[in-house]
Amino acid sequence: MCLTDENKNEMVVTPWEVRGKVDYERLIREFGTQPLTDELLKRMAEHTNEHHLQLRRGLFFSHRDLDAVLDLNDRGTKFVLYTGRGPSGPVHIGHLVPWILTKHLQDKFDTRLYFQMTDDEKFVVDDESKLADMTKFGYENALDLIALGFKPEKTFIIFDVQDIDLLYDIALEVAKRITYSTAKATFGFQDSTNLGWIFWPAIQAAPCFIHKKLTGENVPALIPAAIDQDPFWRITRDIAQKLGYYKPAQIHCRFLPGLGEGGKMSASEPETAIFTTDPPEVVKRKVWNAFTGGKGTAAEQKKTGADPDICSVFQYFLYLFEENDKKLTEREKQCRSGETLCGECKKDLTERINRFLAEHQKKREKARSTVDEFHIKR
Ligand code: TYM
Repeated sequence: MCLTDENKNEMVVTPWEVRGKVDYERLIREFGTQPLTDELLKRMAEHTNEHHLQLRRGLFFSHRDLDAVLDLNDRGTKFVLYTGRGPSGPVHIGHLVPWILTKHLQDKFDTRLYFQMTDDEKFVVDDESKLADMTKFGYENALDLIALGFKPEKTFIIFDVQDIDLLYDIALEVAKRITYSTAKATFGFQDSTNLGWIFWPAIQAAPCFIHKKLTGENVPALIPAAIDQDPFWRITRDIAQKLGYYKPAQIHCRFLPGLGEGGKMSASEPETAIFTTDPPEVVKRKVWNAFTGGKGTAAEQKKTGADPDICSVFQYFLYLFEENDKKLTEREKQCRSGETLCGECKKDLTERINRFLAEHQKKREKARSTVDEFHIKR
């Protein structure tokens, strides 16, 4: 069941809405996923010869069947990766979080990635959206994915509206086996929900199984994504074996927060989100206005220190912009002791984001000439 509540401060985590303070332990319990244990993380590190930043810092915190996928891999049955994007606007740096781990896994396990660009989803779930706009964002968002350095020969982007013929037969097999009552309980559908939306989960399930159709090989899919997408996999896992497939496995990340007080980074609050296309002065303004929870005056902060746990700026160093663990710990200590003031951290973060975006934006433009190589072929 998705967690929904009428109370405004209460946690709501569905594929289409995240609000309130997210309690990740509670999500593990209520979604019925497994915590990513130290033992499993160690196993991952042994496979990849690296303890990836997002894993060692606990940004990925939960999974389903990751251990089973590694067992199969050890016995010679590889896996494919699957993830995606609902292109309702430009990509923000929160979206990059699961894609960065996906790229790491592609590199280390030398495996295929199926990437679903869901212009159809974003059209049906938003009353105001126009299909042509969503499709256009789909192509623009693909540039961000490519800019991260995925391998063209192993990456297959499915642009849903254009490529629906590849998914439709699988989606029908899936849809036939999921009742409306299950879908309603899982996604909270109402009498007023349109039919396109109600059918949608079958289309998001389909790429879990596309590899067999394209290659004849039956291997599991491993899906890196934030925890909001989990309800899709719950219903897909229930019917996978009936259709002769492995249950799709997942590895779930936390949400990169927005620059405001609490809440995940969300495109619907553009002043607290950093988009990959933002120019330097816009990044500077947004970071400058970020919530840090710092004290009222410099003198007070020097005396009592501040709290990095509630500071949005610190979270960006943790998730993306400080690779070096020692330096991160140092920053944290200096914040708590009052040695570093919020203005310094904001200045550092602005520089780091702008350095990253300058490179990313160059690669993004270059990707315009290679996007066809990544588009799934028949
Ligand atoms: P979308 O476009 O909402 O999100 C794309 C991916 O980004 C993750 N995400 C975040 N991760 C960290 N911090 C955040 N603040 C944050 N916000 C979003 C999402 O979990 C997702 O992994 N229906 C999907 C598209 C889709 C898909 C998939 C996603 C189709 N097939 C398979 C993941 C896996 C969507 O609208 O994603």
